[in-house]
Amino acid sequence: MRTKIVAGNWKMNLTLTESKQLVNKLKFSSNSENIRVLIIPPYTNLDGLKRLLDAQNSNIEIGSQNLHHLNSGAYTGEISGQMLKDIGIHIVLVGHSERRTLFNECQEVVFQKSSSALNQNFEIIYCFGEQLSERIEGIHFNVIKNQLEHLINKIDLKYWESKQIVLAYEPVWAIGTGQTATSEQAQEMHHHIRHLIQQSLGVQIANQTSILYGGSVKPSNAKELFQQPDVDGGLIGGASLDATSFNSIIKSLITQ
Ligand code: 13P
Repeated sequence: MRTKIVAGNWKMNLTLTESKQLVNKLKFSSNSENIRVLIIPPYTNLDGLKRLLDAQNSNIEIGSQNLHHLNSGAYTGEISGQMLKDIGIHIVLVGHSERRTLFNECQEVVFQKSSSALNQNFEIIYCFGEQLSERIEGIHFNVIKNQLEHLINKIDLKYWESKQIVLAYEPVWAIGTGQTATSEQAQEMHHHIRHLIQQSLGVQIANQTSILYGGSVKPSNAKELFQQPDVDGGLIGGASLDATSFNSIIKSLITQ
């Protein structure tokens, strides 16, 4: 059975005070290791929220939105895996489309970060997705194949086997636009992704790897998306900033 995950990517939102208020309103408990809920707040909130979640014995996990591939050095404004691990953070997003487009992270940089994070025993949530123009052109399946190529062909199989790699398909045209991929479009792409994994890494890895969908997931569409056979949950932006919406999305995952 594949692990189902709902992760809230808060992006550059919420002060520590605001984020504690939000966490106090989140509702998630599960006895199943196959259902997970994560929050991914800005750096300044990581330590405080980790302590809060630990104090509450919460089942909610916490991850970072980014890391630098090196451990230390003259990289003003950056943060390393070592620093994250020191405050108990072992999950990190890599390759989010906002990092790729607004902060010029090319495939090579995304690969460097992924590889460094995995070597340091992080679990990575590897984000990728096509632009609207690429979908209109009909090259979206190839674009996704290219974005996954390094990960599938160059990363040691052991990291796939240990389930340290979670995939998050986020079509860029659906992020923050309110224009969600239909459940058919999401399923079609997730099936394609699983097939690519199967071709290179085998059926077992393909079947055990969680593939999340991201892009305008809301309480109104979460259930239908999560019901698709190859959609193993969601990476949620805007709707994860509101307790009622995020709780409702969590519920959609648990009850589907
Ligand atoms: P929205 O849910 O706001 O579209 O953001 C999706 C996203 O980018 C999550 O990483």
